[in-house]
Amino acid sequence: MRLYLIGFMGSGKSHVGKALAKKMQLQFVDLDDLIVSTANAPISSIFSEKGEEYFRQLEQRCLKETLHLQNTIVATGGGTPCFYDNMNWINQHGFSLFLDVAPSILIQRLEKEMEKRPLLAKLSKEEMSRFIHQKLEDRRSFYERAHIVYNQNTGTQTVVKDLNYYFLNIIGH
Ligand code: S3P
Repeated sequence: MRLYLIGFMGSGKSHVGKALAKKMQLQFVDLDDLIVSTANAPISSIFSEKGEEYFRQLEQRCLKETLHLQNTIVATGGGTPCFYDNMNWINQHGFSLFLDVAPSILIQRLEKEMEKRPLLAKLSKEEMSRFIHQKLEDRRSFYERAHIVYNQNTGTQTVVKDLNYYFLNIIGH
């Protein structure tokens, strides 16, 4: 069983994924970490030195490597489902869950860590806010193809409780 968490940057895929993996006694893998160890370079350097196209190809390669993992929750990158046939691939090879978080909350969270994110690093706060609204709108149709769409308006504890319920009772893990 593989569970792919998808959603925008700052939606809490890694945070929620780690807590849920602990509760469900599953492994946890962050796709960004796989990319960093494969390239032996931080995401921001991959973007700045090799460009986004190179990053997206590497991202797809690392995504497909998760096929070897069992009983694992995979936190994908915010762009992963939106390139190539990645969203189809995710849905064919695991269960997917979209963590749907309101743009105002994403903005609050991402303001604190813009330098770490190559797509946001050079933007002013106003530009970042416009960028997030626009990008989320562009990406929503990919994200909404997830098996489960979860509107996250509460704290991590409630999310983990709800998601644990889904996977135990609906998917029958
Ligand atoms: C990206 C999201 C990032 C990372 C890269 C590109 C995106 O992952 O993969 O900076 O296109 O939204 P997180 O969603 O884990 O921050």
